[in-house]
Amino acid sequence: MDFSFHHVLMTGRGGTTAVYGLMWQLHSQASSPQNLEFYPLTPDRWQDFERLFGEHGACSGCWCMWWRLKRSEFAKNTGQKNKRMMKRIVDSGRVPGILVYAGGSPAGWCSVAPREAYPVLDRSLTLKRIDERPVWSVVCFFVAKPFRSQGLMTSLLKAAIEHARQGDAKIIEGYPIEPKGRRMSGSEGFTGVTSAFERAGFVEVIRRSPGRPIMRYFVPDS
Ligand SMILES: CC(C)(COP(=O)(O)OP(=O)(O)OC[C@H]1O[C@@H](n2cnc3c(N)ncnc32)[C@H](O)[C@@H]1OP(=O)(O)O)[C@@H](O)C(=O)NCCC(=O)NCCS
Repeated sequence: MDFSFHHVLMTGRGGTTAVYGLMWQLHSQASSPQNLEFYPLTPDRWQDFERLFGEHGACSGCWCMWWRLKRSEFAKNTGQKNKRMMKRIVDSGRVPGILVYAGGSPAGWCSVAPREAYPVLDRSLTLKRIDERPVWSVVCFFVAKPFRSQGLMTSLLKAAIEHARQGDAKIIEGYPIEPKGRRMSGSEGFTGVTSAFERAGFVEVIRRSPGRPIMRYFVPDS
């Protein structure tokens, strides 16, 4: 697999804005669709995010706010309010994650940011901090149905690592599950699966609950 990383001049939709950004291209991964491109979610890509997430905001009106809001707030905000909150994050210039495009169309999403972006993690006995080292967290995946079961999760993880490295991350953390041969349904695998994290270079660092390890990728010293 050849995973190359480029600095590019990205022109906003409609050609009105031009910003320097990051793009990664994935060439000929055995099981992945060809011509994958990965971009941080910036305001000019909001419409693609909307298109990917569809009328249900990926799942149950979430709009990727699950790890960002206390459960009581989340429950009050499902649907349009969550969507507006996510749009405010994007418009503020904070990057909440990365999009993958297959053949030019938005095909998947991975939420990755400094762990502080996801305060709910620390309310969980299973996922609370394991030490005080600064980490970035990968908390959610959403792959459009036509592109599922083609290895996109691993590809997204590799792009998430690159994105976090550009933000000077030294450790990237994930909270996957292990389907153990069982078929996952609905949104069950939204935090990812251990095998994909292993393939991307993550290792298990702690397991406070049988089915939910915390895994880390340690950025090699350059
Ligand atoms: C879960 C999901 C992200 C998987 O993405 P994907 O690109 O299809 O996954 P991959 O093809 O890269 O597979 C990675 C691993 O997960 C396994 N896997 C993927 N889907 C699976 C399923 N439904 N059941 C069991 N295992 C599954 C694959 O077999 C593979 O395992 P392996 O490494 O042992 O071969 C995708 O199905 C999805 O987006 N589901 C909806 C999640 C959601 O609702 N997110 C938003 C929440 S608000």
